[in-house]
Amino acid sequence: MGLHESEVRIIEATNPPPRYARGWHCLGLAEPFRDGKPHSMDVFGSRVVIFQDQAGELHVIDGYCPHMGADLGEGTIEGDTVACPFHGWRWGGDGKCKEIPYCTRVPPKARIKSWPTLEENKQLFIWNDPEGNPPDPKVRIPHIPEVFDGNWSDWIWETVRIETNARELIDNVSDMAHFYYVHGARAKSFKNTFDGHTARQIMTGKPRPAADGSNMAEFGGMKVEIDELYSDACYYGPSYMIDYLKSLVSGMEVQAYLINCHVPIDHNSFHLHVGLMVKKIEGLPQDANDQIAQLYAKGNRDGFFQDVHIWKHKRRIDNPLLCEGDGPIYQLRRWYEQFYVDVKDIQPDMVDRFEVVMDLTKANQLWDATEEKEPADA
Ligand code: FES
Ligand SMILES: [Fe+2]
Repeated sequence: MGLHESEVRIIEATNPPPRYARGWHCLGLAEPFRDGKPHSMDVFGSRVVIFQDQAGELHVIDGYCPHMGADLGEGTIEGDTVACPFHGWRWGGDGKCKEIPYCTRVPPKARIKSWPTLEENKQLFIWNDPEGNPPDPKVRIPHIPEVFDGNWSDWIWETVRIETNARELIDNVSDMAHFYYVHGARAKSFKNTFDGHTARQIMTGKPRPAADGSNMAEFGGMKVEIDELYSDACYYGPSYMIDYLKSLVSGMEVQAYLINCHVPIDHNSFHLHVGLMVKKIEGLPQDANDQIAQLYAKGNRDGFFQDVHIWKHKRRIDNPLLCEGDGPIYQLRRWYEQFYVDVKDIQPDMVDRFEVVMDLTKANQLWDATEEKEPADA
């Protein structure tokens, strides 16, 4: 006899929220947009065009021309404007049509949306706000001084299109157990702190031991010994995470900053940007330092694709069935909701400080026992 419906757990899922999150969203490194061409990009269910004016400032305006709908990204930059490829109308960074080459009078309605922009850490951001308010100065993207001090590698940057809703990515902040099963890294300590517009995860750990009991790990295609993993990863708003990483890689201390950020394309896909910079190790020649940075970037990239594989095959779930060993996923999702409601509807439990330090003694004992039975490399 089967179980009655009321006795089995049913997965529930509603559609993703109908709006896009309020906050700064990164469009990638700023430099590639400075090549003298307009660039279009699909974001927030529509298209924008990014271009640089003569003073060097980057602008982001609606990407389709309201005259007859052409893609401004196919046009050219003329002075401080983008010239439409279809009939040559010229659009300024403020979204106003500045000139129509075959007509003296510009219609007063010739105006499109101009997005507030920000450049920080050599990256370009736009502010999305369904209510149309200007950026809140309290939620500015933090400045990372190390980006500019010359002791670190350049950003190694990669953008991938992911076909799922961005909440899947956010869930990672509290999902302690997946690090072991998906990424082969064992958490020794795990802490979440949600506070205002920030959600932080501090984790220490080590790779799952190999068959010989060592910490040898496959990293970027090379076998290295990794130990003393420390990761302090924090979301600033709905889409921009800075992760400071420190570990011993074959006995050498390696420090890195990982940027994990995204911008929605629509409700079921997003551009994922992964940027990594690594601190140069003193006394090592430049090419050795470059190699370490590339190796590290590759290792992290491989890690992301382990998540991507899961997302590809999983379904949306609003009522995860949690156990004591799981992190505060419901609380995290409540924090995330603040970006999807009007500012006046933000509730205290979305933004109040909330901290959980997980006790991983039991998990580690169980993992030890499992590994004795079936070593990772066996
Ligand atoms: S469609 Fe852009 S100028 Fe006509
Ligand atoms: Fe992950």
